[in-house]
Amino acid sequence: EAIEKGGYEHFMMKEIYEQPKSIADCLRGRLDAKSGRLVLGGLRDYMNKFQNAERIIITACGTSWHAGLVAEYLFEEFARVPVEVEYASEFRYRNPVIGEKDFVIAISQSGETADTLAAIELAKSKGATIFGVCNVVGSSIPRATHAGCYTHAGPEIGVASTKAFTAQISILAMMALKLGYQRGTLTESKYIQLLYELEAIPGKVEQALKSNDAIKYIAEEYKDVRNALYLGRGYNFPVALEGALKLKEISYIHAEGYPAAEMKHGPIALIDEEMPVFFIATKDSSYEKVVSNIQEVKARKGKVIAVVTEGDTQVKAIADHVIEIPITHEAFAPLVAVVPLQLLSYHIAVMRGCNVDQPRNLAKSVTVE
Ligand code: G6P
Repeated sequence: EAIEKGGYEHFMMKEIYEQPKSIADCLRGRLDAKSGRLVLGGLRDYMNKFQNAERIIITACGTSWHAGLVAEYLFEEFARVPVEVEYASEFRYRNPVIGEKDFVIAISQSGETADTLAAIELAKSKGATIFGVCNVVGSSIPRATHAGCYTHAGPEIGVASTKAFTAQISILAMMALKLGYQRGTLTESKYIQLLYELEAIPGKVEQALKSNDAIKYIAEEYKDVRNALYLGRGYNFPVALEGALKLKEISYIHAEGYPAAEMKHGPIALIDEEMPVFFIATKDSSYEKVVSNIQEVKARKGKVIAVVTEGDTQVKAIADHVIEIPITHEAFAPLVAVVPLQLLSYHIAVMRGCNVDQPRNLAKSVTVE
């Protein structure tokens, strides 16, 4: 097992550090910005269905569902197609309105999640086209779908998903770019620019990992808190959900993720000098609004820890701690912004003496409903 961990103390840390490579592996052979090439073999026979879909329905559980939420923003922005993101466990029992014009994307690391599998069977029986985004080759979900793409992230052993999440988003981003290009909602030049942006992500994740020591220092300060709030807007809202999930899964600290503006409708009541609020406050179209949300938290004496874009000054001036990540196109920011949050949860859990790779009560894949 020590050999399998490749010198890391836990699989989770190894898997967090593998991300520059796992994202690159996921893009390799599929995307080449220089030649404008974007090929997703799994889509070939279903490109017509994909392109003419009246709606995309994404179904998944847990972290994979968060990847689906990021994809909702991607598909809507680049391909202008309506998207719904559904918890598989709700979707399957809701008698959903679904038919032949729907293109369903099922996301699953393990490919064995019972609820996701059942949601696929249901959508299939209604005539929809089902596309899988899975990591484990030959698992049940890829076998149940019409077509799909593997994430090629390599085996993920830690129960808390890390590298599978970023690989899923990488596939979904490629799908959104392809669809936008085919549907003509992305111009050629914008499309090429975005291919370059996506291709640059592994290097930026590598950069983000360099904050590990600074993150460890922050973890030391907050390891004993009982609650935490994670806030982000736009593309970074699902990152807030994922950051909160990572913390609760492995450190057993109660954490909630919220869209930053929704804070006023509840979570703001929880803020006092004991409450750490983790903001994802990268330079994007909602940056100024997030800055005012940070001011609202500071006005109530909350502690603010913010993931910011390199060179940021505005948030730095008001936050208690900042973690810098390289600048990215906002659509791909989740791929980089989630990394410091993964590291933070990891260090807090280790400092609390928790079993990081096998947290209590959780299973790597939930094969019962
Ligand atoms: C479990 C795992 C999570 C995972 C979820 C969905 O809860 O602990 O890490 O995100 O299942 O699993 P899947 O394999 O379908 O992505």
